[in-house]
Amino acid sequence: MKSKLIGALVTFGLIGGLCSFVYALTTNKVVIGYNINYEPDQPIPFSHKLHAGEMQINCKYCHAGVDISRHSPVPSLNICMNCHLNILPKNDKQTEVFTAMSDKYNNDEPVEWEKVHLLPDFVKFPHAYHIRSLEEKRNASANAVELADESNGYKAHVCQTCHGQVQEMDVVYQWSSLSMGWCVNCHRKPEHNAPVNCGTCHY
Ligand code: HEC
Ligand code: HEC
Ligand code: HEC
Ligand code: HEC
Ligand code: HEC
Repeated sequence: MKSKLIGALVTFGLIGGLCSFVYALTTNKVVIGYNINYEPDQPIPFSHKLHAGEMQINCKYCHAGVDISRHSPVPSLNICMNCHLNILPKNDKQTEVFTAMSDKYNNDEPVEWEKVHLLPDFVKFPHAYHIRSLEEKRNASANAVELADESNGYKAHVCQTCHGQVQEMDVVYQWSSLSMGWCVNCHRKPEHNAPVNCGTCHY
């Protein structure tokens, strides 16, 4: 008797759960497959807020090549060590992290950063076209001089269009959905008028 009651309760629970899940899906409360807000832990607590925000290091100083190639490479430790060979730790936490960084650097070991953004293999996304096209439009706009002033650091760049305010993030997260609709909607905008045939983005 008791086990039948439990069985019934479990069944009701499962059905109820399934119904609310389907409801949530249809109302767009959960979107399956899109990693929006994905924010993995990183092996070194590198902060964009500190480096790109407060210190205003140019995005392209670290992500060099983003405007000429398909991918935007994540920097190797060499770039960090340009500064960090001369920076002394201020507290225990920094001693620990900076030692880990210089150990890896001296042993020629790469830092295994967790990837934040990842499109499926059947999609092609070339950074170069996007950066060039967005920068041209920015330069043609009324406040271009202010925006293009390299001394303005990150403000001179167009990365935020797709990645959000990275210079305010302690830990980078995926700001856009990266869904097909997101790409196509932007391509369709009159100011972009970029191609939307399937072969543009698919192999
Ligand atoms: C232009 C110079 C420069 C570059 C390049 C640079 N850093 Fe830094 N970094 C600093 C300075 C300055 C500090 C602040 C030290 C302080 O005053 O606390 C710092 C602090 C840090 C901290 C400690 C933050 C904390 O919470 O205390 C970490 C971790 C760090 N950097 C990692 C990196 C990594 C990883 C890279 C390469 C991807 C890098 N840095 C590149 C200058 C630099
Ligand atoms: C001092 C070096 C440095 C600067 C400056 C810097 N980045 Fe990064 N960036 C990194 C490192 C190291 C990682 C990998 C670790 C992480 O995700 O935090 C990274 C990761 C990223 C990622 C996520 C990559 C992925 O795995 O999908 C994006 C997007 C990004 N940066 C954009 C920017 C933008 C936009 C700026 C300028 C506002 C910028 N970065 C400035 C070093 C830098
Ligand atoms: C038009 C939108 C768009 C713009 C503008 C853009 N990105 Fe990206 N970024 C993406 C997408 C989409 C991905 C995922 C690519 C993939 O998985 O193949 C990505 C991935 C990355 C990555 C991870 C490595 C990679 O290439 O997969 C880094 C780092 C990055 N972007 C940095 C930048 C920086 C720095 C800028 C500005 C100079 C920038 N992005 C401008 C859309 C954009
Ligand atoms: C901020 C608006 C914007 C977003 C978001 C965007 N694109 Fe684009 N895309 C453009 C523009 C503008 C061009 C045209 C560049 C040019 O004129 O060469 C373009 C061009 C392209 C091209 C090259 C087309 C050619 O001429 O061969 C590909 C491929 C592409 N985008 C893929 C993607 C994918 C995949 C995504 C989503 C992950 C995406 N784009 C998101 C604005 C955008
Ligand atoms: C501007 C870029 C772009 C264009 C143009 C585009 N796609 Fe996509 N497509 C994507 C991206 C990004 C994804 C992966 C994200 C997603 O599934 O929404 C995708 C995913 C897909 C998927 C897999 C869906 C899934 O969830 O597994 C199919 C099927 C597809 N596209 C078909 C098409 C067809 C057919 C066309 C032409 C009518 C087309 N795409 C045009 C960017 C594009």
